[in-house]
Amino acid sequence: MFALINPDHSPCQYIANPALLGRPVWVKRDDLLHPVVSGNKYRKLKYPLMSLAQTRSTTTPTLVTMGGLWSNHLHATAYAAQACGYHSAGIVRAHAGMNSAMLDDCRATGMQLHLVDRENYRQCREVPGYWQQLVTAPQPFWLPEGGSDPAALHGVAELIAELDFIPDVIMVACGTAATLAGLLAGLQGRSRVVGVAVFKNAHYLHAEIACLLQQAGYPAYQNYDLLLDFDHGGYAKVPRELAQFCQVFSEQSGVPVEPVYTGKVFYALRALVGSGYFQPEEKIMVLHTGGLQGMRGQH
Ligand SMILES: Cc1ncc(COP(=O)(O)O)c(C=O)c1O
Repeated sequence: MFALINPDHSPCQYIANPALLGRPVWVKRDDLLHPVVSGNKYRKLKYPLMSLAQTRSTTTPTLVTMGGLWSNHLHATAYAAQACGYHSAGIVRAHAGMNSAMLDDCRATGMQLHLVDRENYRQCREVPGYWQQLVTAPQPFWLPEGGSDPAALHGVAELIAELDFIPDVIMVACGTAATLAGLLAGLQGRSRVVGVAVFKNAHYLHAEIACLLQQAGYPAYQNYDLLLDFDHGGYAKVPRELAQFCQVFSEQSGVPVEPVYTGKVFYALRALVGSGYFQPEEKIMVLHTGGLQGMRGQH
């Protein structure tokens, strides 16, 4: 697809940090896979892009997708499209005139941006094919929000085979929960995945996980917990306590985290350790899903 910084696999780092009450954990550093297409972005794009590469056409394809002003997925897709020699178009939830450093990056890699209001954005999310009313391109290839295509699960599942040992627990941030579903697919019923929902009232993710597993051809794995109490007020809300935690944790551990995704996971981990949620002998791993470019939106 394109060159990775760590082409074989991402490193797995052991940390025992006071910010986690001294509980040792392993961190699967997918944030180090690539400077732009980092974390779960690379994992989720891999198989959809491989299937596109196999289609024979004389027309250059256009990757079409959607996201917010600081979307890691839009950012990664714009880069991946350019690296693969494709066009790209992004449907962005924003008012005319709004901008961000992330959108500037997308434009710089040639992505055509279509700024739409909340209602049109919601329709793109909920009505299959609605995006075609907003974007026309000769050979469009649609990637759902967050890159959460069923084929995305295969790429995430592969990371399990990279591990030297199978941990008892893997923790991960959940937006669409495709990454969590991919981990379940790779674990094939082993261990327990603990997902931290970053959106408010994300009960609907249980149905999403079941649907993604089924569509991707995996059994209906149930070996997961979905934590709904660590959204900190909702998507991209960063109360002072969370911001401070992320700063202290990043400094002490040397593992950089942002407060929208992986910062919430480590925050939840600390709370769970404090409440006795884990057995003392359980080996815990956190999947670092990247997204550090989004920190630019926090200042
Ligand atoms: C950095 C980061 N971590 C985690 C997630 C959540 O992944 P998923 O939508 O697969 O649950 C996202 C969104 O895709 C993300 O950008």
